[in-house]
Amino acid sequence: MPDLRRKALSNLSFDDLRSETLNCTRCALAETRTQVVFGTGAPNAQLMFVGEAPGEQEDLSGEPFVGRAGKLLTRCIEEVGLTRADVYITNVLKCRPPGNRNPLLVEIEACRPHLNAQLDLIRPAVIVTLGNFATRLLLSTKEGITKLRGIEVPFGEYGAVLIPMLHPAAVLRNGGTALAQTRSDFVLAKRALGRIGTVPR
Ligand code: URA
Repeated sequence: MPDLRRKALSNLSFDDLRSETLNCTRCALAETRTQVVFGTGAPNAQLMFVGEAPGEQEDLSGEPFVGRAGKLLTRCIEEVGLTRADVYITNVLKCRPPGNRNPLLVEIEACRPHLNAQLDLIRPAVIVTLGNFATRLLLSTKEGITKLRGIEVPFGEYGAVLIPMLHPAAVLRNGGTALAQTRSDFVLAKRALGRIGTVPR
C-alpha cells in the first residue's frame, strides 16, 4: 500500500529536495541519526561521488566524508587538480546506520528516491561510486568492486559515465596497491571529465 503522505521527490527544486531529505522519516534510521547528511558541493557539478552511508563524524557534522576516509577522498580529489567545492559528494544512505553497520536493503530502497532525485537535478557527466553498496545499486549488479573498478560504464540517457572505485575506507585498510589503483582511477575520471565536458541540461 503506497504511503500517500509521502511527497514525490522527482521534480522538486534542489532546495526543496534538500529540505524534504533533511526531514525524512522513511526508514527507522530517522530515530537513531543525529542529523541527515544530504550531500555537499556544487549542485551543477560535472563530477559526483556516491559513497555508502555517513559514519560517526558525518552524523555529527552533517557533511559527507569528513572523517579519515573523507580526508583520503579529499586528497585524491585535490591530486587531480579539483577541490571538494568543484564536485558533489553524497551517499547511498543519508543517515548513519547505528555502529556503522552495513546498510539494510529496506534502508537502501527507502533512501533511493533521494539519490535518484539528486542525480536527476545535478546531471553529472561522471559518477564515481565508492565501494560495493553504491556500485551495486547504481549498476544493478551483484559483482564486487574489486572486479569492477578501473572501468568506465555508460550511465543514464544523457551520455554520462559511471566509474566504480574502491571505498576510501578500504584503501586506508589495504594501502599499497589499493591506493595506487585509486590514484589511477582518479586519473581515469579526470580524463572522462575532459572528454565528456558538460552534458546537456
Ligand atoms: N563513508 C561513507 O561511505 N560515506 C561517508 O560519508 C563517510 C564514510
